[in-house]
Amino acid sequence: MKKIKLGLSMRQLGYHAGGWRHPDVPSGGAMDIDFYVRLARTAERGLFDLVFLADGVALRQRDEPAGSLCRANQNVELEPLTMLSAVAMMTKHVGLIATASTTYNEPYHIARKFGSLDHISRGRAGWNVVTSWSEAEARNFNREHHLDYDTRYDRAAEFVEVVKGLWDSWDADAFVHDKESGLFFDPAKMHVLDHKGKHFQVRGPLTVARTPQGRPILVQAGASDQGQEIAAASADIVFTAQTDIAAARDYYASVKDRLQRYGREPDDVLMLPGLLPIVGRTQAEAEAKFQQLQDLIHPLVGLSQVYGPMGDLSSYPLDGPVPDPVDPEMRSRAAVLLEHARRNNMTIRQLYLAASSGRGHRTVIGTPAMIADTMQEWVEAKAADGFNIVPSHMPVAVDDFVDLVVPELQRRGLFRTEYEGRTLRENLGLRIPASRYASR
Ligand SMILES: Cc1cc2nc3c(=O)[nH]c(=O)nc-3n(C[C@H](O)[C@H](O)[C@H](O)COP(=O)(O)O)c2cc1C
Repeated sequence: MKKIKLGLSMRQLGYHAGGWRHPDVPSGGAMDIDFYVRLARTAERGLFDLVFLADGVALRQRDEPAGSLCRANQNVELEPLTMLSAVAMMTKHVGLIATASTTYNEPYHIARKFGSLDHISRGRAGWNVVTSWSEAEARNFNREHHLDYDTRYDRAAEFVEVVKGLWDSWDADAFVHDKESGLFFDPAKMHVLDHKGKHFQVRGPLTVARTPQGRPILVQAGASDQGQEIAAASADIVFTAQTDIAAARDYYASVKDRLQRYGREPDDVLMLPGLLPIVGRTQAEAEAKFQQLQDLIHPLVGLSQVYGPMGDLSSYPLDGPVPDPVDPEMRSRAAVLLEHARRNNMTIRQLYLAASSGRGHRTVIGTPAMIADTMQEWVEAKAADGFNIVPSHMPVAVDDFVDLVVPELQRRGLFRTEYEGRTLRENLGLRIPASRYASR
């Protein structure tokens, strides 16, 4: 069997809503470079392929119900590219992936910054392509409203093509630096993109030489048809939120089946669903760890997790039954939650606790063997090529995974025992893409 790929999604303080209040979590960590360097080094000790930073360009959470925002920790953080440049200097092997929006950037900026990170890190950079989704972000960039969905994706598809074109501006051997003759670069090996499209006019060339990986790794995280097309055309990795193995298998097949149309092979794209592991040496220890986190969810923060689908439940008794939702924003999710609550005879508190862990990602609570079992099952079933680990609370849950689960995966021959290559692309087993000018 092929080796499992592993990413560490190390945003803020972790993915569990109560995590920041855990006694072993440094609650100011999201603004502290030492915190992230320690996490990236732990990931490297665990031979992870990459660390990953999700991102948004606004304070996107709303204060619903009132008093929830100031009790949640998703508010300030270091800008990912700036932070990863520093992390690059303190690590050697681990890949460095940052999210950047195609809605609130220009392609030249993105090509230049990620191209630079690939040079700074000597071939370990990657860009997670997202279209963004919130009105809060629009209001930080001269707009009242977000661009509509189709326009966002239309712009994203062209954006990615322009960035890839800019990364081909120079052949790998363009810079001859011939002091004798006085020739700095070979002019035949410089390429001017001269892109004129619907959303962008970009002449080029890029002021960054061809990068150590040919181009940085491209990650895509959007599950719609349009998102999958971008993934099939360009992505090296797809990050996805899947809680059910059957749905994950369908999605895996759907992306891989599209590749042929773009002249690509199934192995050219790696599918990494998120996974939130709570690891204990025994099942009881794992469950106790999870309960400790659940107990740390402030009721208002808990209620904010179900506000969109269920409306404002803050005036109802927490330990009473779940009322019918009043005009929910997310109707289908409301129906699912309500059905779940009624079937299990749940109180409001029990409902928000059930909805609070993992932010849409699969939570697995158990021993290292049990967590390795489920990872193995998903990979064997072609539901995943690996996982983006979304830790509940950091650094604690990252240490647990590296110290307890990684050795178990290695013992089973499912995970590497040393880095195979020098660059992220080599470690992922992905080919260097040819330049669009290569055959000329
Ligand atoms: C697993 C996953 C991770 C995402 N991460 C981010 C992110 O870090 N920042 C962001 O602005 N949007 C993020 N998105 C949102 C997508 O870019 C996109 O706006 C949204 O998913 C709607 O598109 P879709 O219908 O194709 O999924 C993420 C989406 C998924 C599925």
